Amino acid sequence: MSMAKTPTRDQMKVNKITADLEEYPMEELARIRKELVAKGKAVFDFGTGDPKIATWEPIRAACSEAIQAISQYPSVKGIDALKKAQQGYLERRFGVDPSAYDIIPSSGSKEAIFHIALCLIGRSGGKKHVIYPDPGYPVYRSSIKFAGGVPYPVKLVPDNHFLLEPWNLPPYIQRDCAAIWLNYPHNPTGATATQSYWEQVVDWCHKTDTVLLSDDCYIDIYDAAIDLQPLGEGGGVDHRPMCPLQLSSDRVLTFMSLSKRSGMTGYRAGFVAGDQDIIKAFLRARANFGVGQPEFVQKAAVVAWDDDEHVRERRKIFTSRIKAAAPVFQDLGMLSEVPKAAFYLWVKIPRAFGAGDVQFALGLAERGVICSPSSWLSESIKGYARFALVPDVEPTLAALDIIKDYINN
Ligand SMILES: Cc1ncc(COP(=O)(O)O)c(C=O)c1O
Repeated sequence: MSMAKTPTRDQMKVNKITADLEEYPMEELARIRKELVAKGKAVFDFGTGDPKIATWEPIRAACSEAIQAISQYPSVKGIDALKKAQQGYLERRFGVDPSAYDIIPSSGSKEAIFHIALCLIGRSGGKKHVIYPDPGYPVYRSSIKFAGGVPYPVKLVPDNHFLLEPWNLPPYIQRDCAAIWLNYPHNPTGATATQSYWEQVVDWCHKTDTVLLSDDCYIDIYDAAIDLQPLGEGGGVDHRPMCPLQLSSDRVLTFMSLSKRSGMTGYRAGFVAGDQDIIKAFLRARANFGVGQPEFVQKAAVVAWDDDEHVRERRKIFTSRIKAAAPVFQDLGMLSEVPKAAFYLWVKIPRAFGAGDVQFALGLAERGVICSPSSWLSESIKGYARFALVPDVEPTLAALDIIKDYINN
């Protein structure tokens, strides 16, 4: 007879979902970094995707000018000027008509990604599964669990360019799927999706009554060379990553963010746009979550959504980093394709390390180079590591010398 295990103290004081939570992986990286700094080591930090590039000055100025003597609660709906700027961006960048969707601000996209599960799990006769990419943003999974749903991770592999193809999943999942998360450009692989892929996905969502949740926070971080090509209207093919809202707003939501587009991770600024029925219901729910965005942040966000030039400059920086680092990893046999978007390199760890991605990353960290092992970013994928191209080209090249030395010796 097996004995029931005595619950630990935290299991008695909080629920099982909370007690079972692992430390958020980025916290672990912050700890390693701190230890290295305390030891006086030079640190090349490719761990967290938070590039330290100055926010465009007019955005900062708008924020500080908007601070009022009297502080009042912000509304979850946001100010009209913000809505106008966000709609203007969607029209300019994706050609979507504001009458086709509803829109609400979010305090960064993370909280909205987390909260939407509370509104969707159990919909349409009790659908409980939510599909999401693995590797992928860890909040997809935790939000599903906290909301009482059933996570359904789908492994992304290089053979089909890291595309998640829900039509190949078991029929019972396709029937019982409340929502699906997709993220192209994708963290961590940098994979992008074509228009025909998106058409297939939207069609599948409509056929199976699944809500498409498109995590679009890297949508403007694409190869800077695309900016030099003529776009649309007889000028040629538009190679910029597309948003599924361009195809339909029926059961489609896009989660946009200024964190990567405008270097505003600390401001917490984003929005959710799409299906009018879902957005209306989400807005009612959000009045309970305490996620109203401070008005001074909203005013800064207006400036950011209204301008594309500062984003162009950021793209140049990320592209130059990818162009410098990717060939070195290719020469080492660790990377097959140069990513077309985002600012990550998802590299295969040399055979000598086996599937020991954590061991690889910890060994490298000892030498001052921090990356994220795939075991911390994925539920099933071992033997990879993610390098977030946060350091500039010069320190990146110095770090690559350390990596080469580590691998070859
Ligand atoms: C794939 C993905 N989605 C969402 C987010 C959340 O970004 P934010 O909350 O800063 O908008 C991140 C942040 O790194 C991310 O990598």
